[in-house]
Amino acid sequence: GLPEYVKIVEVGPRDGLQNEKEIIPTRTKIHLIDLLSESGLTVIEATSFVSSKWVPQMADHTDVLLGIKRHPHIQYPVLTPNMQGFQAAVAAGATEVAVFGTASESFSRKNINCSIEESLQRFEEVIKSAKAVNIPVRGYVSCVLGCPYEKNIEPGKVAEVAKKLYSMGCYEISLGDTIGVGTPGTMATMLECVLKEVPREALAVHCHDTYGQALANILTALQMGISVVDSSVAGLGGCPYAEGASGNVATEDVVYMLTGLGINTGVDLCKVMEAGNFICEALNRKTNSKVAQACYKP
Ligand code: HMG
Ligand code: MG
Repeated sequence: GLPEYVKIVEVGPRDGLQNEKEIIPTRTKIHLIDLLSESGLTVIEATSFVSSKWVPQMADHTDVLLGIKRHPHIQYPVLTPNMQGFQAAVAAGATEVAVFGTASESFSRKNINCSIEESLQRFEEVIKSAKAVNIPVRGYVSCVLGCPYEKNIEPGKVAEVAKKLYSMGCYEISLGDTIGVGTPGTMATMLECVLKEVPREALAVHCHDTYGQALANILTALQMGISVVDSSVAGLGGCPYAEGASGNVATEDVVYMLTGLGINTGVDLCKVMEAGNFICEALNRKTNSKVAQACYKP
C-alpha cells in the first residue's frame, strides 16, 4: 500500500536555480529559502559547493548558507562533490551534505570530470570526514532511467552505485531521473532491482518532468514503498550538464497529489505557492506548477 507520510526534499534553491543563465542576486536566493522554511518542509537543499567555473550560479554558496534564517527542525543540505567542497561547506556552517554520483560513465565525466570509480573514491573520503564530525550525507545517483550521452542505463548499474553509496554510509540514496525520460514501467523495473540492494526506507526518487512523466513515476515509487520525494518549488530547474533537461517535478503538484491520496507531508501548499510566486516574479517567469497555474488569481 501507499505510505502514510512522505518526506518531501525541496531542491529548488539548488537544482532549480543552478542552471539559470543570469546570476540571481544572493538576497533573492536567501529570501526564497526563508519563505520555503515557513512552509513545513523539513529538508531544503540550499546550494552547491562546486566549482564556480563549472556552475557560476552557485558561486555565492557561502553567503547563501550564512544568510538564511535556519529553523531548528529543518535540514539544509548542500552538494559537495569532493573534499574541497566539503571543507568549504563545513566552514560555511553546513550541517548536512550530499554527494552526487551517477550510473552513467559519460555523464560522470561531463558532470564532475571523472569516472564513476574515481567519483566513488572521492565520495568515500567525503563520507568518512563527514562521519567524523557527525554530518549526515545524502547520496544521489543520477541518470537512473536514461542519460543524455548514453543510450541505455542498466538497472543493475544503478543498483550497484546505489549500494556502494549506501554501504559507504549515505543515510539516503536519491535516484535521479535527470532527463525525465522514465515512465512508470521503467521506474518499476529499476526500483525492483535497486530494492534488492538498498532498503526502501533509505531510498528517494528525484524526478525531472521533461517528458511530463514525473507524477506518474512518483506514484509508482510510492506504490513500491518509497516515501521520500525530491521536488522543486514552481518546477524550477534543470542540470547544466544535461541539455534540454527541464525542471524537477513541482513541489506544489507533489503536495497536491499526496494530499489527495490522503498522505501526510506536513507541507502547507499555500505557503509553497507563495514561495513559488516570489521566485517566478523575481525570475520574470511563469510557474511550471500546474497547481499554481490553476490557483493563480491575478
Ligand atoms: P575539476 O576541474 O576536475 O577539478 O572539477 P580539479 O580538482 O581538477 O580542480 C580544478 C579547479 O577547480 C581548481 O581551481 C580547484 O580549486 C577547483 P583552479 O586551481 O583551476 O583555480 N575546484 C573547486 N572549486 C570550488 N569547489 C569545489 C572545487 N573542486 C575543485 N568543490 C568538479 C571537478 C567536481 C569541481 C567540477 O566538475 C564541478 O564543480 N562540477 C559541478 C557539477 C554540478 O554541479 N552539476 C550539477 C549538479 S548534479 C545534478 O544536477 C543532478 C542531480 O540533481 C540529480 C539528478 O537530477 O539526477 C543531483
Ligand atoms: Mg536534478
